[in-house]
Amino acid sequence: MNVPLLDLVAQYAAIKDEVIPALLGVVETQHFIMGPAVAQLEAGIAALSHAKHGIGCASGTDALLLPLKALNLAPGDEVITTPFTFFATAGAIHNAGGKPVFVDIEEGSFNIDPAAVQRALTPRTRAIVPVHLYGQMAAMERLLQIAGPRRIPIIEDACQAIGARRMIDGEWRMAGELGWATGYSFFPSKNLGAWGDAGMIVTSDDAAAERLRKLRLHGGAKQYHHEEVGTNSRLDTLQAAVLVAKLPHLAAWSAKRREHAAYYSKALAGVSGVRTPPTDAANEHIFHQFTLRAERRDALQAHLKKEGIGNAIYYPTPLHRQPCFASLGYREGSLPQSERAAREAISLPIYPELTRPQLDRVIDAIRGFYQ
Ligand SMILES: Cc1ncc(COP(=O)(O)O)c(C=O)c1O
Repeated sequence: MNVPLLDLVAQYAAIKDEVIPALLGVVETQHFIMGPAVAQLEAGIAALSHAKHGIGCASGTDALLLPLKALNLAPGDEVITTPFTFFATAGAIHNAGGKPVFVDIEEGSFNIDPAAVQRALTPRTRAIVPVHLYGQMAAMERLLQIAGPRRIPIIEDACQAIGARRMIDGEWRMAGELGWATGYSFFPSKNLGAWGDAGMIVTSDDAAAERLRKLRLHGGAKQYHHEEVGTNSRLDTLQAAVLVAKLPHLAAWSAKRREHAAYYSKALAGVSGVRTPPTDAANEHIFHQFTLRAERRDALQAHLKKEGIGNAIYYPTPLHRQPCFASLGYREGSLPQSERAAREAISLPIYPELTRPQLDRVIDAIRGFYQ
């Protein structure tokens, strides 16, 4: 039995009777640009995030780029982030005119290490961009303690963490609730995936929301009147309709992922050679990815491939070692936890529709490799 890394066709079969009529609804009105589904989705995602405003945009990349642009960065302005993330996090910082300052990650959560953020602060620090990697939140309360007194905005990269939450001072706080602005991606493989590219920013800052709404529309709220230069980064109405139809399923899908993660973790606990991902005790993880640390990782990957088991390396090269950032001067060994994670991490199938026999098949293949 082959087990794919992701099976979007299985999800499609389960929800098509809800999504297709929603799509047809848009087609029949021909209201493709900023149709009612966009505002509906914005309200739904803002509510989920305990945030005041949702601003739909074209992708998760733009959902990071636009708030960074709203900071009006000047050459040399620094933005602290993690190198152990998808490229877009740092690409957006660069494209907004900032200098990415990479700091190391925590060993357990794979997320940015607040102590390293503290050490990296300079008078040029203009923002901090933590990434809630694989679906569990970074230590926001510690980041806020560092950023708050200096009034440094935090932009959460929650592209992998929609609906994730963290217990802080006895209260659940959502991804998207505590940062100044937060970017989400609805890339099809995400926990809440569109049928194409789509993204959203959430914020509770009224002035920022107004500015971001302009920036996604060529800098003008009023047609043919441009207060500044923005871009075309609207959320497509067809994609919004798909997402509005899928949103009520998100909590159950994420719960299913947690169930699969618990099953894997129990079954793989005794396998020497792999370490299952620890969940920070304060976090409710949404398991966008289930990522092991594995000895002889590349050989394990080849074995799983041979066995017909989908897997992926997120991410083989930390961003401080990417050729495009060579001029920043980070040497091999400069961020050792990130470099180690890049050598050890391997992600397994974790999508909600996985069956017990499929999970067992993955577990058997891993056990077989380390026997
Ligand atoms: C952590 C992270 N940041 C940013 C992005 C960019 O999102 P998109 O692909 O929708 O532009 C992604 C997703 O691909 C991501 O996983």
